[in-house]
Amino acid sequence: TSDNPSFNSVLETRLSRRGFVLGGVSSGALALFGGVSLSTLAGCNSDDDGGSSTTTPTTPTEKLLGFTAIAKSLADMVTLPAGYSYSVLCALGDPLTATTPAYKNDGSDTDFDNRFGDHHDGMEYFGLDASGKPSTTSTDRALIAMNHEATTDETLSSFFVHTNGGTKTLPRPASEVDKEVPLHGISVVEISKASGAFKYVQNSSFNRRITPLTEVEIHGPARGNALLKTKYSTDGTKSRGTLNNCGTGRTPWGTLLSGEENWSGYFTRPTGDDAARGNDKSVTSLKRYGRNEGAASRHGWESAGSDDKYARWINAKTGTSTDGTDDYRNELNTMGYIVELDPYDKTKAVRKRTALGRFAHESAAFSRQVVGKPLAIYQGDDARNEYIYKWVSTATWSAADATATDRLATGDKFLNDGKLYVARFNADGTGNWIELAITNPTLSAYTTYPFADQADVSVNSRLAGDAVGATKMDRPEWCAVNPANGEIYFTLTNNSNRKVDATSSSHSVVDSANPRYYTDVKGTTNQTGNPNGHIIRIAETNGESAATSFKWDVFLFGAESTADGTKVNISGLTADQDFSSPDGLAFAASTGICWIQTDDGAYTDVTNCMMLAALPGMVGDGSKVSLSYTKTDGTTLPVTTYAGKKPSADTLKRFLVGSIACEITGMCETPDGKAMFVNIQHPGETTKMADIADPTKYTSHWPGNYGYGAGGNSARPRSATIVITKTDGGRVGT
Ligand code: FEO
Ligand code: CA
Ligand code: CA
Ligand code: CA
Repeated sequence: TSDNPSFNSVLETRLSRRGFVLGGVSSGALALFGGVSLSTLAGCNSDDDGGSSTTTPTTPTEKLLGFTAIAKSLADMVTLPAGYSYSVLCALGDPLTATTPAYKNDGSDTDFDNRFGDHHDGMEYFGLDASGKPSTTSTDRALIAMNHEATTDETLSSFFVHTNGGTKTLPRPASEVDKEVPLHGISVVEISKASGAFKYVQNSSFNRRITPLTEVEIHGPARGNALLKTKYSTDGTKSRGTLNNCGTGRTPWGTLLSGEENWSGYFTRPTGDDAARGNDKSVTSLKRYGRNEGAASRHGWESAGSDDKYARWINAKTGTSTDGTDDYRNELNTMGYIVELDPYDKTKAVRKRTALGRFAHESAAFSRQVVGKPLAIYQGDDARNEYIYKWVSTATWSAADATATDRLATGDKFLNDGKLYVARFNADGTGNWIELAITNPTLSAYTTYPFADQADVSVNSRLAGDAVGATKMDRPEWCAVNPANGEIYFTLTNNSNRKVDATSSSHSVVDSANPRYYTDVKGTTNQTGNPNGHIIRIAETNGESAATSFKWDVFLFGAESTADGTKVNISGLTADQDFSSPDGLAFAASTGICWIQTDDGAYTDVTNCMMLAALPGMVGDGSKVSLSYTKTDGTTLPVTTYAGKKPSADTLKRFLVGSIACEITGMCETPDGKAMFVNIQHPGETTKMADIADPTKYTSHWPGNYGYGAGGNSARPRSATIVITKTDGGRVGT
């Protein structure tokens, strides 16, 4: 394994960053010795210790990805490799105050403002020292900040939280809506170790919920702009809540970034609204963000009564004002951002960082911090044929920024002033970052949507990306930066609208960066396009965060192991490695392992969603691949792409398989890498609402069937956070 560049690069980073040397041999070096124990190595060193030559160190042998890969599984359980175990830290509905009752999980529970929300998604670890101050080294006390993306629902209703499944016709009762709204948003919770295991602290004063009704502040270029004025905030500086929070990021100054993803569908826009707006450019914007007039909302929350908290979901011009301060015609513009939250200070409102653009945000991944250089933040827009973005701060990094006590002021410094770019991937393996600035002549010449100012560009970044010819991608989900070399990885989860011929305006034609069109069979259904997804990676020119050009290749192509090795399973995945629809993505700071999580519907006839561990190489470590397609007119369409080095059995292994119908998402760890937190989102989401009274028909009972919470083997399934540890006390992934 020593010829794999990833080992060297990971090792270099760990040596330089941690300076972690034992008896002259770094623990990281053990990975290169493939199983030689520390005691053996330490014994070679004559400088070792000096006082206790007969003592044998007990530190376990460590090899990255030293575990045995697990098989695919359809079982209703979380499966881990031998030598690993997990416990459930928290689940949907668990109480977050001392006085909130335990979750009964029978549909009768209320007061979700004081409970964990649903669909646990991205999350980050924020260490606490014994006095409750921020710590970057604490391994036994911390805050976890986590997203609650959505709910398991069918025909309007989040049916598992209602006794009889709830109401599936309009109007929705206020009693149901008032339960469903706070299932969304963000939770902050204190965790601490008791008897060696992490538990959450129900009565911690740090515990906090942000819901779609919590007042938040607008920051960045759109603050106070005409596009943000609503009846709720007539000066456009505030709004209510955050919604459909999906991926996360952890800022180098100790705050959470949370991405608002599929927020558009929660709003309704009645027929006739285009004309009411005079068919002005706001209609162009609304359509680009998925709200044609006549669009119905996901839950019908707008129907629950005349109270303003319900009316805000009606995205229509109903008032007589010219500026929208008497209705919610502009309300859609208050969603779709990266929001920043200070987990350590619940008195501070969440800030929407409008400068970073407005789209279906996933994670926000920081470039490596270099003193004197700007910070880059990488972001994806998760919808079919949408774009990849980069933010570059005007401010440059200094070491003091990491520990400044006013963390949101540090956020103002790096997240308000800078440049927003969108990516273009070229057929020769290079790419360009195109600045989305109002001063860009291409933008000012764009007649489809005449941009007024930089705020307009930020709020309508998808339209700006259209204007400059950004590359349409196969659904950019999470991104993550390899700490060893600064390269940026993006999961492109799948795309059913990738074709060989552009048969409609919603279809994109295969290109170098999105090169596959194939058929994957699920049961008797043919799935076409790129149903299994891929992971693309970028190396900035000279490794600079502010670079405007890059090189790229495809780290891994998702595929079934039995698929055609020249056209589909290009990465040569084996049965221990094959996966479909990569989504969550994170590099462990402790080990440098690249963790890949899936949110799949294509391979779920064979396996539940999973998490894999990979040892990353580097852009350009593989080879050029030539593909060829035949178009419907009989002509040939050649496509050249660039595949990373094929993984070996030692560099990519399946590590976890989740319970039935879940997705795996969110990953964070203790600074020593010995405890990893992972979210099991929406187990049992394939359950039919009509079967709510018959638990034998629920498709999952996890984690009740694991012994967590009420209900046992007939429990309603719950999204939950698990803590994974290695039985021998070693680091996770070894
Ligand atoms: Fe919330 Fe795109 O996953
Ligand atoms: Ca299949
Ligand atoms: Ca996701
Ligand atoms: Ca997904």
